[in-house]
Amino acid sequence: MASMSDLGIVRDHIAAARSLVVLTGAGISADSGVPTFRGADGLWRNFRAEDLATPESFDRDPRLVWEWYNWRRELIASKRPNPAHDIVVEFERRCSQFWLITQNVDGLHRAAGSQRLSEIHGNIWKVRCTVCGVVEENRDVPIPILPSCRHCQELLRPHIVWFGESLAADDLARCATALRSCDVLLVVGTSGVVYPAAGFAAVAKEAGAFVAEINPDPTPHSGIVDVSLKGRAKELVPFLL
Ligand code: APR
Repeated sequence: MASMSDLGIVRDHIAAARSLVVLTGAGISADSGVPTFRGADGLWRNFRAEDLATPESFDRDPRLVWEWYNWRRELIASKRPNPAHDIVVEFERRCSQFWLITQNVDGLHRAAGSQRLSEIHGNIWKVRCTVCGVVEENRDVPIPILPSCRHCQELLRPHIVWFGESLAADDLARCATALRSCDVLLVVGTSGVVYPAAGFAAVAKEAGAFVAEINPDPTPHSGIVDVSLKGRAKELVPFLL
């Protein structure tokens, strides 16, 4: 468990920050009951990403992919933000130069009230037309298994960045600007193995930021951060206010 002195060091850096960036992964939502991807009971332990989260798998079997996203939507629909999500909203309220970068598609940061954020891997409550490209919010639970676009009646896909796909250029640019100009970067609940997000801590570090991590387990970030706080987000993030 993280020491009170380490928590104090990170809290003081956050309080003094002119510019603060928070980077989150599935671990911040684990305390809300949303499964992580690579944890003990993680999604990729039970499902094959190449069958469900690639453009090729969607071309091959859109019904299977939609059945899986429908299952995830039903699961996430009953989940609520936890205190860690709420404190991130408070950081945004208190720090004039604040940006949240989340890899999570569960929408819990928005549900908590976060506004200055990049959902770099998309949002499970958004759909995109495979032909006309229109992106719309859709909160139907269940969603029709092969949903069609209300503009052109073509097939919709989840508005999610799949393996082998690039992040949106404006998201990448926004994240790069925030990471290169922040005083403090707080990394919460990510295994740090999926790029480009896995390289963000190094970008901020190289630009001179103080970098801290919250995770119950060691990650590739643990070797480069200034302070690694061992523990769960719901328990530790509230100490940082
Ligand atoms: N509090 C903080 N961290 C936690 C908690 C918790 N309660 N529970 C688990 N963790 C940590 C785990 O130790 C792990 O390091 O959260 C991390 C979750 O890692 P992953 O499951 O790999 O999730 P993430 O890093 O967000 O995955 C990145 O991979 O599958 C793709 O697109 C998907 O956005 C996802 C990306």
